[in-house]
Amino acid sequence: MQNIKIAIQKSGRLNEDSLNILKDCGISIDNGTDQLKASARNFPMEVFYLRNGDIPQYLRDGVVDIAIIGENVLVEKGEDIEMAEKLGFSKCRVSLAVPKSASYTCIEDLQGKRIATSYPRTVQQYLDERGVRADLHIITGSVEIAPNIGLADAICDIVSSGSTLFKNNLREVEVMLHSEAVLAVSPKIGPEQQEILTKLQFRLRSVLKARQ
Ligand code: PRP
Ligand code: MG
Repeated sequence: MQNIKIAIQKSGRLNEDSLNILKDCGISIDNGTDQLKASARNFPMEVFYLRNGDIPQYLRDGVVDIAIIGENVLVEKGEDIEMAEKLGFSKCRVSLAVPKSASYTCIEDLQGKRIATSYPRTVQQYLDERGVRADLHIITGSVEIAPNIGLADAICDIVSSGSTLFKNNLREVEVMLHSEAVLAVSPKIGPEQQEILTKLQFRLRSVLKARQ
């Protein structure tokens, strides 16, 4: 029998909880010397540890069959990729924030302003739908520092506990998206892998039910 290839976040917020949910499904993963790939001992599965932002492309190309990924990343980079299951962990929101001292009453206040973000497509769509034009500055990390160093008037990033916003004197003004970890499926998944996926989903659903 063939294996199903699953992508999991290499490091960061989803990594541990992703491995935990597989463990709760009764799947034990051998973490050998290879840090980027591992095999399951008792389930036909290979695990690939990848960068979050790369995972949609790996799914699209069929390099991996499935992935545990933040819904926010799928919305930003993988509109064409099917979401099979919401997994109930790593809940966060993708929000717009402005300096505490800035006046803000509605989205039109961002007209002509500079917004720093790692989620350009998500922000652009949100602004387009509301007829607001702004300048997007795409940065990959530490987005919340941008207003303090004069790079932007507002930011759009993930908010979880809110502590990063708080520490940077920012105020959340618009929630654009609610997100959590999801199971995503490659459009190129083969019939054998599809069968394994069905078994995995069956287990996932009982785990999720038990967690409620
Ligand atoms: C993420 C995200 C926010 C922060 C939100 O950053 O980009 O900055 O977490 O979490 P909080 O609301 O609980 O503070 P991360 O620390 O992962 O680093 P990065 O921005 O450099 O990727
Ligand atoms: Mg950050």
